Amino acid sequence: MGKRLFPIFAVAVIAIMADSAQVFALNNGLARTPPMGFNTWNWFGCRNSSGHGYVNEAMILQIAATFKSKGMAEVGYEYVNIDDCWALGTRNASGGLAPDPQFWPHGLKWLTDSIHRMGLKAGIYSDVGTSTCATCYGGANPQGLPGMQGREQQDCDSFVAWGFDYAKIDFCCHDSRPAVQQYTKVRDCFKAAVTRMKPKVPDAHDILFSICNWGEQSPWLWGDTVGNLWRTTNDIGWQWNSLMAILDKNAPLYPYARIGSWNDPDMLEVGNGDFSTNMARNRSHMSLWCIMASALLAGNDIRSMSDSIRSILINKEVIDVNQDTLGGDMTKGIIQGRRVVSGNSEVWVKLLKGKTQSEYAVCFFNRGNSGAVSISVTTQQITQVGGDMASGKTYKVRDLWRHKDLPDWTAGSNYTTPASVPVNDVFMIRLSLPDVSVATDIKTVAEKMHLDMGGRLVVKVVKSSSVSINIVDLKGAVVYSKRTNGAGDYAINTSRMRSGVYLVKVVSGRESFVQRVMLK
Ligand code: GLA
Repeated sequence: MGKRLFPIFAVAVIAIMADSAQVFALNNGLARTPPMGFNTWNWFGCRNSSGHGYVNEAMILQIAATFKSKGMAEVGYEYVNIDDCWALGTRNASGGLAPDPQFWPHGLKWLTDSIHRMGLKAGIYSDVGTSTCATCYGGANPQGLPGMQGREQQDCDSFVAWGFDYAKIDFCCHDSRPAVQQYTKVRDCFKAAVTRMKPKVPDAHDILFSICNWGEQSPWLWGDTVGNLWRTTNDIGWQWNSLMAILDKNAPLYPYARIGSWNDPDMLEVGNGDFSTNMARNRSHMSLWCIMASALLAGNDIRSMSDSIRSILINKEVIDVNQDTLGGDMTKGIIQGRRVVSGNSEVWVKLLKGKTQSEYAVCFFNRGNSGAVSISVTTQQITQVGGDMASGKTYKVRDLWRHKDLPDWTAGSNYTTPASVPVNDVFMIRLSLPDVSVATDIKTVAEKMHLDMGGRLVVKVVKSSSVSINIVDLKGAVVYSKRTNGAGDYAINTSRMRSGVYLVKVVSGRESFVQRVMLK
């Protein structure tokens, strides 16, 4: 692996899976990072309505195979999601939803089993109303499917029995009850379904719940107790203007994003329509969705995408920004990046790695149309997202699209893009601490952390100089703090700590390691 680990300490905690009800109201333990995968809707639509072919079993399995063959699974894409129009227009004799046998000849359990065997996960779609969106507004797609209304429990039972891992639930043809009530009902049915199905289906498990009510009735105000993500806007289109409108609606909602409950500005259009050939716009789309901690659901036909589109979707350095959930104080929503400079030359920042030893993703976005521009940001603007950047501190600068290191930068001054940013393109960097590669290596060692027989958290320090160990809850409160003075095993009594999720931070000089743990 090239880098040599300087063995400062080996730290270990056993992450004990526990009921984390005190921390997460939804409490299904899913979507700890923004979900990544694929969804059929943006390119295929409903039964060839787009002229791009039919969504069916063979095609879905090809998509899953593409996750593996094109390096997508490796960088985190895991959910293969079927959108609208998979069902027969009428329910079966027992009142259940039925997949159209023309498209799903082996049934949906067979399909999810096949997807699971590939190490991937499967997603399905329905609607809280009486009919799904493709049918609801009449005419164009008479082959939609019935919605869940009145049959919520039966449908949740089916989705769980079929083995799905992800459910997107739409908001068409709903009645006048508040959205929060309708979605809470579905949430409760999903929960009950796992218990109800367990005797017959031993691997029955919770389903990641995606609320799709297009930002109506402010789902960011109640969504975190109901679902794992909520749409914040109307449907995305593959036009640049659509993307910009969605961006502006989703941007100010950063205070509401949490681990396990995310703002959802809709699926990706990378590679589609206006985005089929304009790589600058594709880069901007991907960068901004990553910095906004959005779900990354590819919406193009990944089976036939070009190498340039593929390289945008699988840019691991940009995806790492999206998946970093250690950004500062999660109760204040700093986990989602935000716009710190507006206008034709925008700057977006996301705090990475936490409130101390902070790193930053900075995205300079030329939104205007009048030529390439150079863009600057001040230190004060960067630190609007928090963290411990301070004047005089030097950062390594990594260009996340060209994959190369740039000259170091010292906070206090402005950072100006080294070259002009072309129209509608981005220049995206990560500001990291000089010894970050050592910290990454430490992480590998640290994943072996453990609890001893007495339930104490054991931190093994193999460095003789001082190391500080802090345990912080998700509200940022420090519940344990110790400075070591010598190598040895430090056993921390956790019996007084409430059940839930904590961050264990171990810091030595400028090196640090953070591990999320769940304690019973
Ligand atoms: C709505 C949703 C879309 C898609 C379609 C399917 O418009 O917002 O994402 O699921 O329905 O009909």
